[in-house]
Amino acid sequence: MRTQVAIIGGGPSGLLLSQLLHRKGIDSVVLERQTRDYVLSRIRAGVLEWGMVELLREAGVGQRMDAEGIIHEGTLLAAQNRTIRINFRKLTGKAVMIYGQTEITHDLYDARDAMGGVVIHEAEGVTPHGLDSDAPHVTYVKDGTEHRIDCDFVAGCDGFHGVSRKSIPSSVLKEFERVYPFGWLGVLSETPPADDELIYAIHERGFALCSMRRADLSRHYVQVPLTDRVEDWSDDAFWAELKRRIPEHAAQRLVTGPSIEKSIAPLRSFVAEPMRWGRLFLVGDAAHIVPPTGAKGLNLAASDVHYLYNGLLAHYQDGTPEGLDDYSRKALLRVWKAERFSWSMTNMMHRFPDQGDFGQRMQESELDYLEHSTAAQTALAENYVGLPY
Ligand code: APR
Ligand code: PHB
Repeated sequence: MRTQVAIIGGGPSGLLLSQLLHRKGIDSVVLERQTRDYVLSRIRAGVLEWGMVELLREAGVGQRMDAEGIIHEGTLLAAQNRTIRINFRKLTGKAVMIYGQTEITHDLYDARDAMGGVVIHEAEGVTPHGLDSDAPHVTYVKDGTEHRIDCDFVAGCDGFHGVSRKSIPSSVLKEFERVYPFGWLGVLSETPPADDELIYAIHERGFALCSMRRADLSRHYVQVPLTDRVEDWSDDAFWAELKRRIPEHAAQRLVTGPSIEKSIAPLRSFVAEPMRWGRLFLVGDAAHIVPPTGAKGLNLAASDVHYLYNGLLAHYQDGTPEGLDDYSRKALLRVWKAERFSWSMTNMMHRFPDQGDFGQRMQESELDYLEHSTAAQTALAENYVGLPY
């Protein structure tokens, strides 16, 4: 088989890139290791920067988002019994969209089907070859048969555990990492949200977050030690702990119910440089991971797709290499800013085992500064709604 861009990974990055390219007449094939149902069964976040909202509309997959998504003009930061509202609209003129990653992935699969896009599921042993040549190709096994795809470029959209990043020689690849000494226990429940906006709470017992998907579907998190296991946490224990950590008024009106999904996610900051090697371009989680405190994971994948899509467009439409040659530098500039923001939100809003009294005072004074400084609130707001592409 021959295509222009072989895309490894059928998650939001790979599907969005394939959809955008197809609308411009650029051919691609998506190779996904898992089944479609498995990919769609993953519960992930759902706060979209406005840049991503516009990119999804440009890709022709904005209809359901615009119909069912919830626009948030602010968010709430709570510490002890004070709540700071960060008014995105007043401070930046922008807002964010609450719309689940699972829904976006659904919409992208529907759009690929509608355009006759090629997405090959259960592709095993996907291996890129000749990435440092002018004629790369990708091989994979499907139903026991080996297949080969010749292409011009390979987009590594295969997440943190994918094959793409590992295809870059260790003499070239540099990895940066910070692993946090705690995780997030998340619960999805068919209950109404705790508030009209998200509540990020810091409490002496640790961080908590009240988020949402719809008016009847909520997503909540509490910080837990990495040694905790899901089975250690009954639903009742989860709700009781969440209520302890959020402001009293929110705890009193919080509606609880059975969890329909419950899992613990570790927190990590990770960046791989460069994001291009020869004909291979790393996109999304394949190149970087952020702790979820800043809601940047999916949004960073989208900005990578924006830069690569425009680079490929310039290559195929005008024959100009600059966009592709500058992809890694441009994408990493934005990645590192989002890493810094996510790291600073994580430091401000979590209890660290070794933070000590000085660390505690640092957090308290940072929140106090945030409460009384428009400049500090603006800095947080402009990072949260998304820095320009
Ligand atoms: N071959 C083919 N497919 C693979 C391989 C492989 N060797 N390894 C992984 N994959 C697939 C995975 O099964 C997954 O469906 O690549 C896809 C990668 O998708 P994601 O991990 O969702 O990564 P990405 O598309 O970059 O989306 C980033 O996902 O994890 C969240 O917080 C993150 O929101 C961010 C978003
Ligand atoms: C979520 O809705 O799952 C969510 C929202 C905001 C975050 C992280 C996760 O910062």
